[in-house]
Amino acid sequence: MGGEQSKPTGPDLAAGVAVDDVPDGGMLGGHVGEEAVLLARRGEQFFAIGATCSHYGGPLAEGLVVGDTVRCPWHHARFSLETGEAVGAPAFNPMPCWRVERRDGMVFVRDKVMPGGRRGKAAGGKPDRIVIVGGGAAGFAAAEMLRREGFSGEVTLLSADEDAPYDRPNCSKDYLAGNAPQDWMPLRPPEYYKDRSINLELRTEVAALDTKARQVTLGNGRSIPFDKLLLATGAEPIRLDIPGANLRHVHVLRSLADSRRIIADAEKARRAVVIGASFIGLEAAAALRARGIEVHVVAPDHRPLERVLGREFGDFIRALHEERGVVFHLEQTAIAITAETVALSGGSTLPAELVVVGIGVRPRIALAERAGLRIDRGVAVNEYLETGVPGIFAAGDIARWPDPLSGENLRIEHWAVAERQGQTAARNMLGQGERFAAVPFFWSQHYDVPINYVGHAEKWDQLDIDGDISARDCLVRYRRNGKVLAVASIYRDVDSLRAEAELERSALIRVPTGASAQP
Ligand SMILES: Cc1cc2nc3c(=O)[nH]c(=O)nc-3n(C[C@H](O)[C@H](O)[C@H](O)COP(=O)(O)OP(=O)(O)OC[C@H]3O[C@@H](n4cnc5c(N)ncnc54)[C@H](O)[C@@H]3O)c2cc1C
Ligand code: FES
Repeated sequence: MGGEQSKPTGPDLAAGVAVDDVPDGGMLGGHVGEEAVLLARRGEQFFAIGATCSHYGGPLAEGLVVGDTVRCPWHHARFSLETGEAVGAPAFNPMPCWRVERRDGMVFVRDKVMPGGRRGKAAGGKPDRIVIVGGGAAGFAAAEMLRREGFSGEVTLLSADEDAPYDRPNCSKDYLAGNAPQDWMPLRPPEYYKDRSINLELRTEVAALDTKARQVTLGNGRSIPFDKLLLATGAEPIRLDIPGANLRHVHVLRSLADSRRIIADAEKARRAVVIGASFIGLEAAAALRARGIEVHVVAPDHRPLERVLGREFGDFIRALHEERGVVFHLEQTAIAITAETVALSGGSTLPAELVVVGIGVRPRIALAERAGLRIDRGVAVNEYLETGVPGIFAAGDIARWPDPLSGENLRIEHWAVAERQGQTAARNMLGQGERFAAVPFFWSQHYDVPINYVGHAEKWDQLDIDGDISARDCLVRYRRNGKVLAVASIYRDVDSLRAEAELERSALIRVPTGASAQP
């Protein structure tokens, strides 16, 4: 993924800075030659690491040091201060590090240590064949982590998608808006899979899973045996069930191919109707406005995103889109579509050569259901992301796991959650017994306004606004019974990171200790 290199500003770290210039548990942004570098401190230890996040180029010096990691202010990726390893998605590429020397009350940043990417030790007694069903966020992250952990057995990544794993969130953002070139989209270039001996099979739908014979069967009848399996089949868009819903210019938006189809139609369209004021619907509306298309949003809600973010945020989002020319038709639904129009329940008719439907998704659990895995509005897994069948794991949009923060079983549709679950599932397939305790995080982009959200609050009884939402400078806390469940923010990145760390601490208190349920 592209991203501007941070401009090297601040002190020349090679020339040295005073020890006291770097606060304990904090960091100092500076440079070494032309490279932006940050110097972080934990007690008497100092670390120097590249300052430009390997995900989209976020400025790490504006992030937060938590334990032995630095976290990115933009999408909360985590990097080891010691090795530069990307230990928490959404970044995968390691950061460069520099050797640090301390002398006479000064700290000097010396030579650069290029990131090699950690390769764990391939221990004995591990599974020989791991099959991953689904080449999206969780599936890719799992395959990548298996190799990073040094697993040398077979890794087969089966994906119904026509494209190799790609940056799905961008399908409704810069890519759809025409601001991100095609080559930003793949998570890895094609040769990566060959180099890492990951058997990536695209356009390959798994039709059946036999948990006893321990094999999956493809649509073409071919069977593939496994020792360990990860199900990461994601979610599928809910389709409209109204006349005209199957017309060629009516699109859902889940895959890169969907995004390409919308772009092709957008090149000819003057007017678009977006059905649904969901995150994806609104991001699509913003992207289409960026292409100069007239956009109308139709939704049954009273306010966009009110259920997720509350009334005040909902009003702000509406005003933000209206400022950019989007016209809302709320408390209405689409009842019929023709080649040129969308008819609404309120009686009006909107002209449209392009229709994008964003009315929600449902988890793709049919495969798991047919295989007899336990279903609980998703595939039920334990805190190690393992289903009731030993050695079969589930991660991402399909998985419902016991969340230590809320004490509830959650299923969440967020990119970074799916990736981090894929990473945890990979480690657990190798027998590492890692509980999934990451606090959920998502971001959404509307024009130049990024919204970050940590935690999870389906319901709250108190909402506190610190700052001013309409001034695009706020931290909004969602509480139930006095306890903070989630925090949404705009341009309060370090506060969002602090809130995440705080939620993690309260979640850790709830994580049960004692015997591992991991086989
Ligand atoms: C347009 C868009 C924008 C988004 N933006 C954001 C965002 O800004 N922030 C955020 O946090 N989240 C965002 N999300 C949500 C996020 O992308 C998902 O939560 C995440 O991709 C889920 O990962 P997953 O691995 O569970 O599923 P997916 O990424 O959907 O991957 C599932 C994979 O499984 C494959 N598959 C399904 N069934 C089978 C089968 N039977 N056999 C073989 N393969 C199969 C599919 O082809 C696909 O490759 C967005 C989603 C979309 C669609
Ligand atoms: S830019 Fe750092 S996590 Fe996205």
